[in-house]
Amino acid sequence: MKIAIILGTRPEIIKMSPVIRSCSDHSIDYSVIHTGQHYSYEMDRIFFHELELHNATYNLEVGSGTHGAQTARMLTGLEQILIDDPHDAVLVQGDTNTVLSGALAASKLGIPVGHVEAGLRSYDRSMPEEINRIVADHISDYLFAPTETAAGNLRREGRPDSGIFITGNTVVDAVSQNLSIAQRDTSIFSKLSVERGGYVLVTAHRQENVDRWENLSGILKGLRLVRDEFGVTVLYPVHPRAKKMIEQFNLQVPDNIRLLEPLGYFEFLLLEASARLVLTDSGGIQEECCILKTPCVTMRKNTERPETVDVGGNILAGTDPEAILSCAKVMDHAPRTWENPFGDGRAGERVIKHLKEILPDQRRTVPR
Ligand code: UD1
Ligand code: UDP
Repeated sequence: MKIAIILGTRPEIIKMSPVIRSCSDHSIDYSVIHTGQHYSYEMDRIFFHELELHNATYNLEVGSGTHGAQTARMLTGLEQILIDDPHDAVLVQGDTNTVLSGALAASKLGIPVGHVEAGLRSYDRSMPEEINRIVADHISDYLFAPTETAAGNLRREGRPDSGIFITGNTVVDAVSQNLSIAQRDTSIFSKLSVERGGYVLVTAHRQENVDRWENLSGILKGLRLVRDEFGVTVLYPVHPRAKKMIEQFNLQVPDNIRLLEPLGYFEFLLLEASARLVLTDSGGIQEECCILKTPCVTMRKNTERPETVDVGGNILAGTDPEAILSCAKVMDHAPRTWENPFGDGRAGERVIKHLKEILPDQRRTVPR
């Protein structure tokens, strides 16, 4: 059995790392195909180094572009690789354009596709990620749902029960495999002159937030209100999309909001685990906060991770500055006693175990 693991962005590298590790543990032949959707050192290579992953077997280096152009480049490149180098199954993770093109290229070639983190729904089709999730879930053969809620979404859309496997989310595996390694070097706190519990950590990069002036300026005003009310340092490692848009809109970042370059996973995990509060629009960070028991304010109107809200670890604020402040006050008082809804940290192992059980042990011939 030979598996192609397709990835292309920061969260996919992090969340696929437990699956890659599990392939090695089970002596399974695999290739890592990197689309090159993310390519800056701090969005890509740093995670390969920290997570001790081998270089990708292939890198398409597609780079940035409009959704259509970027997806088209990936689709063409992935198809060629999968024709030239036959695999018995393809795995994709999450909801990016890399996932869309990976699932599409493989399914058109008749190669079984497994979607890791299947079944998430925001029910907001203005998000490019929602389109990617829906398409990927409907053309994938094996749906590795992180929770019962995600599996229920898939069943309601008519996906057959026989192809749905509840595995937990590999984000738990990644946190549990790496937090203790991260804790070996805690110099980030002194480097940034912050005390544990004495800062608020922020990320914002979602297209519908940072590409719209009113939403991005709302977030920046909200951060200033939180800074003034809480009297704490606000740390904001800025995603390249957000950096580009702050410059393009010529927005003034309020004093005392400390903009940082994107951080490595270890430093970010440490800051996340010890933050007084996290404000974000990231998917993975909502989950990580829930796992690390750090209260989270999500600067969006909806979430495809409702489990985080249901257990009491997260609240939806949108991008209105006053709403961000009032939600921050609510979460600042939240008792940190909730249960992690995303599984036991063995999701990567389950994905590989299920694949081994399902796939016949023979190499497929790929139609040209
Ligand atoms: C993508 C995913 C999003 C995911 C995010 C993770 C899609 C549709 N979006 O969004 O779901 O949450 O990755 O971080 O797939 N750029 C760089 N260096 C890089 C990568 C990007 O400078 O290594 C800049 C470029 O200006 C680029 C912009 O960031 O145009 C956006 O990159 P892109 O990959 O299109 O989308 P993300 O916003 O990163
Ligand atoms: N992350 C990181 N450095 C940062 C910001 C985030 O290592 O400066 C990690 C974070 O721990 C999480 C992942 O990146 O595992 C989330 O990625 P992102 O927010 O870009 O994407 P999303 O999860 O929203 O798709």
